[in-house]
Amino acid sequence: MPFDALRSSYSPAVDVGASPEKPGSNAPIGIFDSGLGGLSVLRAVRATLPDERLIYAADSLYAPYGERDDDFIADRTLAICEWLVSQGAKALVVACNTATSQSIAQTRERLAVPVIGVEPGIKPAAITSQTRVVGVLATAVTLRSARFQALAERHTADCRFILQPGHGLVQAVERCDLDSPELLGLLRSYVEPMLDANADTLVLGCTHYPFLDEAIRSIAGDRLTLVDTSVAIARQLERQLDSFGLRAVPRLDQAQAQAVELPRFYSTSDGQALRQLAASLLGLDVAVEHVVIPSRRTVGPESDPA
Ligand code: DGL
Repeated sequence: MPFDALRSSYSPAVDVGASPEKPGSNAPIGIFDSGLGGLSVLRAVRATLPDERLIYAADSLYAPYGERDDDFIADRTLAICEWLVSQGAKALVVACNTATSQSIAQTRERLAVPVIGVEPGIKPAAITSQTRVVGVLATAVTLRSARFQALAERHTADCRFILQPGHGLVQAVERCDLDSPELLGLLRSYVEPMLDANADTLVLGCTHYPFLDEAIRSIAGDRLTLVDTSVAIARQLERQLDSFGLRAVPRLDQAQAQAVELPRFYSTSDGQALRQLAASLLGLDVAVEHVVIPSRRTVGPESDPA
C-alpha cells in the first residue's frame, strides 16, 4: 500500500451509521494546495470518484510554500483547511507535499474530518527502478523535512536517491509556463545529472510537477519512468471515505449528475492562472472565486511576511 504512512488518524465524533443516506455523505471534499499543483490530484480524484462534489482552494497569493518557513506553512495549511471545513467539506486532501511534510499531524489534530496527505512516491519508485538509482524532484522544504527523511531512510538500503530541490519550477507552473526555453533549461539542469548517474526513475515529489511531464519527457525521452502519485492519492481518499461511511450516494439522474459535477474553485490571488490551467489541462471552463483567508501570520490578502 503506497500510502500506509498517510492513513488519517480521524475518528468520527458521531456515529455515522451504515445507511447510504447518512448525513454528510453528499457533502463536498475539500482539496487544497499552495497553488495550482493540486489540480493534478483533483484530476485523479474526479476520475476515481465521479460522484463526489469537490471544492478546490489554491493559496496562490502565498505560493510557493517551498520558499517559506515551517511555521508559515503550518499556519496557512490550518487556516485553509479550517476554511474548507467551514464550507461544509466532509473530508480534506492536502494536495501539497510541502504542506503535508510540515503540518499534516497538527492539521489532523485540529479538525474533525478525515485529512488525507500526500508524499513523494519513494516506495513505488524503489519497487520500479531497475538500475536502483532514483531521482527525486521536490521542494527544498519537503526534502529537508523529517517526514521525508524517514520515508527515504526506509528504502535507502538497496536504492540510491538523488535528491534535487526544484527551485523555480512551482513559480513556472503558477504562471502557466510549461514549456518556455527558460523552464526547459532549468529542468535540463536538474534532470541531466540524474541521467548521467544512471537513474531510470524520477519521483515527481510536488503536485505541481506532473504538469511538467511533457517538458521532462522532451529532455529524458523514455530513459526515465516518472512516478506521479495522484491516482494513489485518489484511491487512498476512496478508502478513507469508505471506511468512515462518507462516500457520496451515486446520482441516478444524469442531468442532475452533470449539474453538480463541476468542482468549485477558489483562489487567494486573482485566480486567473487557476482558471487558465483548469481550462487548458483539465478541460474545465469554470469561474474562480477570489477568497480572503486570514491566518495568524497573514492578516489580509496583501500581507506578505516572507
Ligand atoms: N504543490 C506543492 C507541493 O506539492 C508546491 C509547494 C510550493 O508551493 O512550493 O509541494
